[in-house]
Amino acid sequence: MKLNEGWVPVALSASIEAGTSTGAIVEGSEIVVWRDNSGNAHVWEDRCPHRGMRLSFGFVRGDHIACLYHGWQYDTAGQCRYIPAHPTLEVPETIKVPTFQAKEKYGIVWTTTASENLLPDAGPSAAITPVRSVYVDRAKSDVQDVFEQAGMTMLCEQVGKLVSGDDVLLLAFQAKAEAKTAVHIVISGSHAIYGGAKQKHYAQWAENLRFHLEQATPSAAEVA
Ligand code: FES
Repeated sequence: MKLNEGWVPVALSASIEAGTSTGAIVEGSEIVVWRDNSGNAHVWEDRCPHRGMRLSFGFVRGDHIACLYHGWQYDTAGQCRYIPAHPTLEVPETIKVPTFQAKEKYGIVWTTTASENLLPDAGPSAAITPVRSVYVDRAKSDVQDVFEQAGMTMLCEQVGKLVSGDDVLLLAFQAKAEAKTAVHIVISGSHAIYGGAKQKHYAQWAENLRFHLEQATPSAAEVA
């Protein structure tokens, strides 16, 4: 996976419940994002070393993820620990899935292949209300440009802030491919205040926005 430019947002934390997995794409590379039953998130290459099945199709079992195809099970370090067809086999250490760093901040799962530890800094991160992720068939730079025309200010390389009345939205941009972008949207503020009606309002806003982003460049009024 090509992730030499630092941390990349790959999913809303709330969209990956404990014991579930999902697939994502970063600059053309397929990854699996999964959460073990202890609540820890993991980001790996989305490919089983056996026959190449996507691990995002698999099942989480405690702190292992099991491949859908032949049931090989991998621990949280990506090491294969169990092969159902050979239950007594001590699995060779060489059978391992490439893993990447996975951390959570702003209600978003981030990953990188770089060795850095400092996550993007867009200000305080304690109280966050998730909205949704939007997938747009446009290049990341084009999508960011549209938001910036609508008043978004970038707080750091990956996260922008858009203010609507008293509400502050944080938007994290993920380049999926040359002309495909995911925008992960959260509200800065606690769920007790912003959950429910506000959450639904901005989820609908985000869906409308996706349509506008793909159809034409929206005006600031349309975005706000
Ligand atoms: S392809 Fe994954 S266990 Fe066979």
